[in-house]
Amino acid sequence: MSAVISINSGSSDSIESKVADFISRMGLDEKIGQMSQLQGGGGWIPDDLAESIRAGRVGSILNEVNVEVLNEMQRICVEESRLGIPLLIGRDVIHGFKTIFPIPLGQAASWDPETIEAGARVSASEAASVGINWTFAPMIDVTRDPRWGRIAESLGEDPYLCGVLGAAMVKGFQTDDLGEPGSIVACAKHFAGYGAAEGGRDYNTANIPENEMRNVHLRPFKAAAEAGVGSFMSAFCDLNGVPATGNTWLMDDLLRKEWGYEGVVVSDWESVVEMSVHGFTHDDEEAAYEAVMAGIDMEMASSSYLDHLEGLVAQDKIKLAQIDTMVARILTLKFELGLFEKPYTDQKEHAAVLNKSNLKIAKEAAVKSCVLLKNENNTLPLAQSDLATVALIGPLADDDYEQLGTWIFDGESQHSVTCKQAVEELIGRTVEINYVKGLETTRSNNHEEFGAAVSAAEKSDAVIMVVGEESFMSGEAHSRANIDLPGHQAELIEAVASSGKPLILVIMAGRPLTIGNVLDKADAVLYAWHPGTMGGPAIADLLFGLESPSGKLPVTFPLAVGQVPIFYAHKNTGRPATDHTCVNMDEVPARAPQTSLGMTSFHLDAGYKPLFPFGFGLSYGNFKYVKITTSHSSIGLGDTIDIHADVINTGAREAEEVVQLYVRDLVGDVTRPVKELKGFRRISLKPGERERLCFTLHTDDLAFYNRKMELVTEPGKFHVWIGGSSDAELWADFEIHD
Ligand code: NOJ
Repeated sequence: MSAVISINSGSSDSIESKVADFISRMGLDEKIGQMSQLQGGGGWIPDDLAESIRAGRVGSILNEVNVEVLNEMQRICVEESRLGIPLLIGRDVIHGFKTIFPIPLGQAASWDPETIEAGARVSASEAASVGINWTFAPMIDVTRDPRWGRIAESLGEDPYLCGVLGAAMVKGFQTDDLGEPGSIVACAKHFAGYGAAEGGRDYNTANIPENEMRNVHLRPFKAAAEAGVGSFMSAFCDLNGVPATGNTWLMDDLLRKEWGYEGVVVSDWESVVEMSVHGFTHDDEEAAYEAVMAGIDMEMASSSYLDHLEGLVAQDKIKLAQIDTMVARILTLKFELGLFEKPYTDQKEHAAVLNKSNLKIAKEAAVKSCVLLKNENNTLPLAQSDLATVALIGPLADDDYEQLGTWIFDGESQHSVTCKQAVEELIGRTVEINYVKGLETTRSNNHEEFGAAVSAAEKSDAVIMVVGEESFMSGEAHSRANIDLPGHQAELIEAVASSGKPLILVIMAGRPLTIGNVLDKADAVLYAWHPGTMGGPAIADLLFGLESPSGKLPVTFPLAVGQVPIFYAHKNTGRPATDHTCVNMDEVPARAPQTSLGMTSFHLDAGYKPLFPFGFGLSYGNFKYVKITTSHSSIGLGDTIDIHADVINTGAREAEEVVQLYVRDLVGDVTRPVKELKGFRRISLKPGERERLCFTLHTDDLAFYNRKMELVTEPGKFHVWIGGSSDAELWADFEIHD
């Protein structure tokens, strides 16, 4: 299947001819200028930058957010450069501009494309209000390694989920018309394989067989391309021995030729010149050559294109026609954005940042992002009327900065509403709140306040502890080898738990943490990720039952870091473990013979199951799944099949549930995962309400890349599950015949 991508918002013919006209009038130096993205001055325009803009030697600026400065840059372009070509203005608007949304991994836990689209819409309109017209999001690297700091910025471990949610983000940033005010260009990054960094260490090498590339890592990118994303960014990593930025197979054979992608491809920050550090090229000149040959239209931050492309063209190593094609893509994007007609930004034409509606959307996103992992004896929701006192403890209970998360270039902590503020606002009139920080930061090991924390708990009817990891512990270049709760937070939890009071843990983090050691100390656990500006009110509403949790894990939670990578869509192996074959190391007698423990695939000290599976999340409702049926027992290639199941809310309150559809293709030309997500839907059911859901699958939805790298659906037997997590048990089967 090959898609021809159209990202046009207006008449492509006229854009094409306008672009051709420009190209015919441009000098080589001006063309190379368009292919260069330079760092802004951070609030002013350095003389050399102004001169470069005037000379037509810059196509794009990144990291300038002052509207007057940006307007002045555009003015220099339009009025003082020979051809008057305006600039693309790039910025990492990843989970909000001023109104900060939950980190992308948190947003993914909503499993709600509408929520994600709405968040991106707000972010785009706020960013556009200062003149930004290009964001470097969504990041759709499939990642199965919570050590990797950038998992925070990802949409999780599943290619289908990443694809659907990534496409929703693209739509939110770009709308259907890039020329509309408030629309900005999205960027599918990091192409490709970056999420498979060895050891979960950022920037590290990725070795991914082509079959796995196609069946897993490339799928969300294909979805983004089909959703019309205006740009792609090359990954930093060495992919199978060839850095992505110089990877001709990836960038040219696959992206351009096989997929027909016509948008702009930008390098990552200095990733062109870093090819020499990788040991792939000798120097910047060779790096520029390799990047152009691969198809990187624009170089970010470094200047190897500016310094060497003229020479490379003069030596006839790079053809002018190739440069023209690349420049044409950049100019096309500028036309599609309407930049030639409207290069300047008038803030008065834009809604104010951080306005009420934006904050409301951010709160809704945070509500849907939180995942209830445990709720023993219906500890949650807390009933305000039953409480006289509540203890609020923990280093993140009142930290307006740390709740914002990793990518907040422009977010400001003074706009955050913390848990403490929100809980006080919600219940403070009738309930006494005993607040103790307990630990200065999440990394502290000073027990000075433990006594105060325990006595606050003892004199309260219930305890809410807000713990986790600080925002710097995830994100770019911020990976961790141990993913436990840092510092002495586990000790603090243990001390507070000794009070015997109902204990609710709220965990803010940029990744799945290994929290098995504290789970049994708590009666309830709400995983809030880094929830953004409105994290506090969202969490307070969930804790006190104004909202019901409905988030589902977009990534598997390991029991122990040594299990990583552990993900639901794994292969079966020749010797899969089961509960019967899995041995507990502590029960093995001394001098046990090697083969007496069984010979299956598990860890002696961690078993084979995760702490929480992909797709898991509780709610204040109680959802039961029954009566799965398929419309046919056998279908032919090209047909569709309907899969039905009843979902019943047997709980006492109305709640939302994300219903998930999984499939297993039992035998394949290449082995298939034990389960693959193929659909999901958010529904709301009243107590006692029952809904019969129908998922329709086309045989194309079951296609995969075979050994010859052909996309095929193979006849054979399939299992299908409908349920509330990847552990769904309700299943049926069907067949595809020739
Ligand atoms: C490097 C990061 O890898 C990328 O995601 C980001 O968009 C660029 N820097 C620009 O800041």
